[in-house]
Amino acid sequence: MKKRALVLTGGGDCPGLNAVIRGIVKRAAQTEDWEVIGSIQSFDGILNEPTEIVELDEKAVSGIHFQGGTILGTTTKGGPFAWPIKENDGSWSFVDRSDEMIRKLKYLGIDAVISIGGDGSQRISQKLFEKGLNIIGVPKTIDNDLSSTDYTFGFQTAVQIATEAVDKLVTTAASHNRVIILEVMGRDAGWIALHSAIAGGAEVCLIPEVPYDINIISKVIKKRFKNGKGHVIIVVSEGARPKDGTVLSAESDEIGNENLKLGGIANKLLKDLKAAGCDADMRETVLGHLQRGGVPIAFDRILATEFGVKAMELAIDGTFGEMVAYHHPRIVSVPFLEAISKYNIIKTDSSLVHTARGIGMCLGD
Ligand code: F6P
Repeated sequence: MKKRALVLTGGGDCPGLNAVIRGIVKRAAQTEDWEVIGSIQSFDGILNEPTEIVELDEKAVSGIHFQGGTILGTTTKGGPFAWPIKENDGSWSFVDRSDEMIRKLKYLGIDAVISIGGDGSQRISQKLFEKGLNIIGVPKTIDNDLSSTDYTFGFQTAVQIATEAVDKLVTTAASHNRVIILEVMGRDAGWIALHSAIAGGAEVCLIPEVPYDINIISKVIKKRFKNGKGHVIIVVSEGARPKDGTVLSAESDEIGNENLKLGGIANKLLKDLKAAGCDADMRETVLGHLQRGGVPIAFDRILATEFGVKAMELAIDGTFGEMVAYHHPRIVSVPFLEAISKYNIIKTDSSLVHTARGIGMCLGD
């Protein structure tokens, strides 16, 4: 009988997920003794009754490397350690179904689990590994905030999309003599913002790592406008915050999503700039999930494929409790504990920040 690897995608989707799945399946097909199945909607496919799993052979993954999203579906809610249950009074409680899930995986004859997900997913992976599950992680997030890997796949595609947005906003801002604020994703790290701001030539970039002073931004705008003529592009991470304030979160009625729903910083900035005396015409654009959808660029397809192949090779070798990672120029693996120990944030003394300041970009400080 063949050995069975189970693959699943968890957390927010990300361009390149399908290329990872294809890499895993194609690598397994090079062996005589491994087959791959997929769990629908992360671990829900295993926990749901009836079980929702699909066979993943070469035919099933043919041509999916350039498709956005994930053929397996994903979820940001719940999980084996906090499964949401609706009580009779309408309230929600959470139960730990991890032992039951591990039993089900044994029953299904699973020899290895490959979990493609971000920080939250890899925390779950570590907990399952501690319970004895043979599990391997693949780092995914457009935010690029997972430590222990130089890049996560999907990030460069998001940067490309955000840069194209900046390019478009420049032309309309210049035509109307306006300030346009572009809000991009990035909860804890400003990688998408700073990369797209440099690539697109924005005048101001606000990131979570550098709390901003509204008066400094206001001064930059005043300097850029002569007799009412001029334009300014501000790129802001959703997780950016003023020096004396906190990050902005929106109301969310989602059950079981451990992440705060961020958003609204562009609108706040616009109002605060007005209050600080900025009289230029201003507009805001929130890029939102456009950054997560669609076709992955070549870099992300390649990285995702490399991650998929490496993850399957770890399963073949019997190496578990580790996440694949990119340490230029090699694809390696690192223990989950190391990968989840901290976020990969932008260091304020990094060359990226130095470069931004070197071209006169205001970081709000
Ligand atoms: O973690 C990736 C991310 O893109 C964040 O930047 C963003 O805050 C979050 O996902 C939004 O996810 P969702 O709308 O799926 O809950």
